[in-house]
Amino acid sequence: MLSGAGRGQPPNRAKPLVPKDKVVPKDPAPKGVAPKDSAPKAGTKGTGQSAPIQPAQESSSANAAPIIAPNPGIRDFKPDEWSLAFGHIPVLPGETLEALNIKEKGFYVDLTMGGGGHSRLILSKLGPKGRLLALDKDPETLSWAAIWGQGDPRLIIKRASFDQIDSVLAELGLGPADGLLADLGLSSRQLFSPGRGFSWQNDESLDMRLDPDNEVTAFDIVNHWPEKQLTDLIQRLAEERSGARLTKAILAERAKNPVKTTRELAELVKKVLWRPGHHAHFNLATKVFMGLRVAVNQEMEALATLLRKAPGCLNPGGHLVVIAFHSLEDRQVKQCFASREGQKIWKNMFKKPVTPSENELSLNRRARSAKMRVGELLKQPENK
Ligand SMILES: C[S@@+](CC[C@H](N)C(=O)[O-])C[C@H]1O[C@@H](n2cnc3c(N)ncnc32)[C@H](O)[C@@H]1O
Repeated sequence: MLSGAGRGQPPNRAKPLVPKDKVVPKDPAPKGVAPKDSAPKAGTKGTGQSAPIQPAQESSSANAAPIIAPNPGIRDFKPDEWSLAFGHIPVLPGETLEALNIKEKGFYVDLTMGGGGHSRLILSKLGPKGRLLALDKDPETLSWAAIWGQGDPRLIIKRASFDQIDSVLAELGLGPADGLLADLGLSSRQLFSPGRGFSWQNDESLDMRLDPDNEVTAFDIVNHWPEKQLTDLIQRLAEERSGARLTKAILAERAKNPVKTTRELAELVKKVLWRPGHHAHFNLATKVFMGLRVAVNQEMEALATLLRKAPGCLNPGGHLVVIAFHSLEDRQVKQCFASREGQKIWKNMFKKPVTPSENELSLNRRARSAKMRVGELLKQPENK
């Protein structure tokens, strides 16, 4: 899950995507390709004038542990116009900046660019010689970035999954980074985008792919996965104890007709799992939808690969910052930092995850399940 458009309201699709006073290129980078006249580094998408950033509070820096006082928030943080237009508010903005401990001339990677909320905060701290590589597997976010980042020579945009970070760096001829940021899951914009099938609040086909080239959709899983796998998904990824019962109901339903739409699935979940006393039965659908999305996009596997590869992609002293919204993802990150602390590869910067302040939650309810963990790379492992 994720942060978002604020107060549980889906972004208003009727509103223009781009702030009115911005000049939008006529053909903004379809399919993740940046405009030809931009100045990319090493063959990927460059972009132009940097978006106006409301600088966050001054980051007090970072070498002493803990680097961040718990939950400082950014007092009076206001998402910039690009985040508002995109429909996604960056989570833990001040904490993320502090955790990355940005050096003016450093090289950073935003592994999950989304609407670029964190990317623009990072750029606001980089000097002219700094570099930011921003990745996303969803091409729509890339065409968006081609607008807000147009002409900024410090920014390199690339369509890629973050589990490929090592080969992306090699392909672009970029060395290890000074900091890596992964803000996991999906953006509020994706959640509510018509036709993508992420939300039970829309009635549309069961898709849920972040990368439209992904072969597997939620429809395939719901209608074709065997009982055991489906039960495991619902119990483990959706953390729904009645997974076996729900699976049986799905199997019975699909024996008659395929379960085609988000509405059909949400209704089925409600029918099977709702009991008096469940004051918000649709929360049950939320969990099931999240589990399905995680399975469709192989999010656990991608995170495991990232955690394995990250030490080889960071300079010693650099920080890997991970913001997770799913307890299993958070556990993976926690265990990785803890187990490799023993091998003196990571220093776990916080015993407990950093969570949003009340101040932030009053602005952005969607941040409520966010947990940020930070590892400092002590040394490159011998076997990367
Ligand atoms: C929570 S959003 C990031 C929001 C962003 N930090 C901001 O402030 O606008 C997560 C983004 O990560 C992308 N994503 C998810 N899994 C990914 C992966 N394996 N590789 C690259 N991008 C991924 C999603 O498409 C989505 O745009």
